Amino acid sequence: MKVTARRAQLHHQKALQLWKYYKWILWLALSVFLFLTTSTTSSTFSFLFHPLHLKPNLPARALIEAREPSSSPLPKVYVYELPSRYNKDWLSDPRCGSHLFASEVAIHEALLGYPGRAVDPDDADFFFVPVYVSCNFSTPNGFPSLHHARPLLSSAVDFVSSRFPFWNRSHGRDHVVVASHDYGACFHAMEDVAMADGIPEFLERSIILQTFGVRSPHPCQRAEHVLIPPYVPPGIEDERPAPEKARRNIFVFFRGKMEVHPKNVSGRFYGRRVRTEIWRRYNANPRFRLQRKRSGDYRAEMARSVFCLCPLGWAPWSPRLVESVALGCVPVIIADNIRLPFPEAVRWPEISVTVAEADVGRLEATLDHVAATNLSAIQRNLWDPARRRALLFHRPMEQGDATWHVLRALEGMRPRRRLSRPRGGGANRHVEVARRSYTGSGHGRLRSHHEPVA
Ligand SMILES: *[C@@H]1O[C@H](CO)[C@@H](O)[C@H](O)[C@H]1NC(C)=O
Ligand SMILES: *[C@@H]1O[C@H](CO)[C@@H](O)[C@H](O)[C@H]1NC(C)=O
Ligand SMILES: *[C@@H]1O[C@H](CO)[C@@H](O)[C@H](O)[C@H]1NC(C)=O
Ligand SMILES: *[C@@H]1O[C@H](CO)[C@@H](O)[C@H](O)[C@H]1NC(C)=O
Repeated sequence: MKVTARRAQLHHQKALQLWKYYKWILWLALSVFLFLTTSTTSSTFSFLFHPLHLKPNLPARALIEAREPSSSPLPKVYVYELPSRYNKDWLSDPRCGSHLFASEVAIHEALLGYPGRAVDPDDADFFFVPVYVSCNFSTPNGFPSLHHARPLLSSAVDFVSSRFPFWNRSHGRDHVVVASHDYGACFHAMEDVAMADGIPEFLERSIILQTFGVRSPHPCQRAEHVLIPPYVPPGIEDERPAPEKARRNIFVFFRGKMEVHPKNVSGRFYGRRVRTEIWRRYNANPRFRLQRKRSGDYRAEMARSVFCLCPLGWAPWSPRLVESVALGCVPVIIADNIRLPFPEAVRWPEISVTVAEADVGRLEATLDHVAATNLSAIQRNLWDPARRRALLFHRPMEQGDATWHVLRALEGMRPRRRLSRPRGGGANRHVEVARRSYTGSGHGRLRSHHEPVA
């Protein structure tokens, strides 16, 4: 009898312990779940819990309504419908959608199909102004002529601010434009001119998506901005074998402009003479494949190379940064002070080698040292598909691609950019006005103001 009682007691204690144990496990699981769903940095996991990303084919409205306001991972973006002279007309030249500045086209097209696109501008967190300023290619040299960038954008801003109430409401603070060329919204390829011109006054308060970024203060990054990668067509990944399968029998590769005697252009030299120095020192070295023309089987050569040099040109960045990552060649960044896109997702120091401009003379020794110590660790990081995906703009947008990371960055800015606005009843008037202007059928009060310039 005593024994049975003792046994029952023991049993009871065991059960109690077990229950405590399960409670603890349950509590832990719940905490982890809550942490992952509320944490804004855990981009890898949060999408798992949001239907928005898993059902990209549902109509945007239903998805937006399904979102919980406290844990929404991506912002709602209203895409202005501008007359085609601001954007689509330029696509008659096929280069417009594929050259190194074509993120202005890719982001626009990705946002048009984005499930979080706001149908109703009053639901929007941000407003995207789609203007293609880089597609007026000059006939003599094929480079984009940027002279018309300012007037074209200014005219687009006049267009949206006179027909919709949203620009004036925030002075453009929640409006987003792409400025993907050399010095961002300064719209000039030469740094001294770009700096003197500065960012146009009408864009100073807006958010600029730009490839240009340096670590020190610079007049061309004075506006709130998101750094974006240079545009490289996403097909690049399919063209070549998987990076880990490529036979890499070129030690160091570079193809591009390398002036033997660089011209002094108003006190400045192309690539601060770094490329000239690379050519001078390593041209005769058989371990360096250097070509002064960017042509031939450029990408096949990159896919066969261990290290790909990414020295500055006029601007610190070049498409090589993306091409080398996409093709699995370790980028060797030679551009002092450069700031690179999506540092949290890509973690550049883990996938690249940085060499100071003044240390170009020690390039070979530095790369030999890396090859002898941590090259395989760098390559393993580099070949991680998530980091490569972050640098390419897919159409339609893909989870974790460059446009997706732009949206993540905008989401992070939302609390700062958002103004207290009337919601509900007070907002309907705006919607009504916007709808009328949008369809072009209204002649309301707002339309009587100045017409676009262009
Ligand atoms: C294209 O650029 C040239 C040279 O800057 C300029 O004269 C021309 O007006 C531009 N075209 C358009 C349609 O803006
Ligand atoms: C926004 O402000 C500008 C300049 O003050 C004005 O011309 C324009 O009509 C305003 N837009 C609206 C929609 O009221
Ligand atoms: C480059 O040209 C500027 C004038 O445009 C001159 O002041 C400067 O000394 C020149 N620099 C060199 C290294 O030749
Ligand atoms: C590789 O080694 C170099 C020093 O030789 C170091 O600066 C760099 O951070 C290392 N990179 C990685 C990814 O371990």
